[in-house]
Amino acid sequence: MDAGVHVLVFPWPRQGHINPMLHFATALVQAGVQVTFLHTEHNLRRIAQAPPPGLRLLSLPDGLPDDHPRSFLQLMESMCETGSAAYRALLMSLLSEASAPVTCVVADGNMPFAINIAEDLGVPALAFAGNSACSYLALLSVPKLVELGEIAFPADDPVCGVPGMEGFLRRRDLPRGLHCAEQGDGDPMVLKLAEVTARSCNAARALIINTAASMERQALAHIASRTSDVFAVGPLHARSRFAASASLWREDDGCMAWLDGHEDRSVVYVSLGSVAVITHQQFTEFLSGLAATGYAFLWVLRPDMVQTTSSALLREAVAAAKGGKGRVVEWAPQRDVLRHRAVGCFLTHAGWNSTLECAVEGVPMVCWPFFLDQLINSRFVGAVWRTGLDMKDVCDRGVVERTVREVMESDEIRGMAQAMSQQLRLDVMELGTSSSELERLVRFITELRA
Ligand code: UDX
Repeated sequence: MDAGVHVLVFPWPRQGHINPMLHFATALVQAGVQVTFLHTEHNLRRIAQAPPPGLRLLSLPDGLPDDHPRSFLQLMESMCETGSAAYRALLMSLLSEASAPVTCVVADGNMPFAINIAEDLGVPALAFAGNSACSYLALLSVPKLVELGEIAFPADDPVCGVPGMEGFLRRRDLPRGLHCAEQGDGDPMVLKLAEVTARSCNAARALIINTAASMERQALAHIASRTSDVFAVGPLHARSRFAASASLWREDDGCMAWLDGHEDRSVVYVSLGSVAVITHQQFTEFLSGLAATGYAFLWVLRPDMVQTTSSALLREAVAAAKGGKGRVVEWAPQRDVLRHRAVGCFLTHAGWNSTLECAVEGVPMVCWPFFLDQLINSRFVGAVWRTGLDMKDVCDRGVVERTVREVMESDEIRGMAQAMSQQLRLDVMELGTSSSELERLVRFITELRA
């Protein structure tokens, strides 16, 4: 590798975006590239783990006080103002480093400002998408969906506005909140995300997606026709068994010993990721449904996850549920949990990292998508990959019980999940399609410097 190549990797400062970009940065380091990884100061203070060897960490202010809730739109606004000014200054100082100035920026697609500022300063910039190709394509298609009026929700009507998914995608698989966009007052978060995604896709020299061609060939082909170049290099976390971690919550390892005490494939793992917040009623429906299955379950309940209810009350409720078969943790070592022989299925919100982590381990899924990309990911799980079932829009104890049982007991779903796992492991091996794409990307980044 050319010793002069130095990539600045800049994730959107949320757990679900930091994780894939950290795996990406680690893969670059392993390919001999010098990498600097940029956190916000707020996040860097929370991360307990040491950075992977060879990775330099830097940070910048996000402009919000530590105790701020950081909603998507507030964070977006603050990153565009305070964050972008600090980023410009930092990039300028990195460019003047005598030994190894930055030669390329890879920034999360949520931050077109990071791409534009880099290019302004003469540094080539690429966009990174930590979500699925199918959901990325749906976001790029928002103007078309709005034009066609294909945004009502909930409904089973097929939509035509996302290329390659005509007739298969339904209105209820689209990001929630788009339903009123035709009146000009759609969910500002969805509309903002669609706007920034399109802007960074147009501005970047290329787009890097954490997916595999074997999973999403068609969507990738449609995206390729809309941008300069696309590299499908995922699932990035699967490149190393001991992938790097940068958890914003403290992982509770005690659940691993608890899992050791259970039979093979007898436990339901439940996690709705790092963002979703559920109502107390939804919590009760999940808990009753899970208890009724009779299976043991391991449930990640972040302290801020159930509206208006304290963690202590939630733990008590789970402990009191039928047979005391539930175990609650505030944050789990998820990749290790999914790899554990005792886990029989994953009840998930179908965030893209969780979906990929589950797919690589061959664990069947029960999807209860919460927002944005999760709605379309879960449609693909249930109807394209057939590695699980999609419980979309329904939060009812009877449905939870039936769906979990069906997935735990279905040989067909397990067989599909295991076949996908085998394929993804091949994809990230030497000469696999994702590995070849990563090599092509490293050459691309090296040539940008010339
Ligand atoms: C967000 C969006 O919600 C998601 O839809 C999008 O695809 C990525 O950004 P999040 O909701 O946190 O992410 O879900 P997900 O993508 O699944 O990422 C969660 C990450 O946290 C995973 O890497 C998972 O392994 C990790 N995790 C989760 C833990 O390490 N421990 C836990 O207990 C729960």
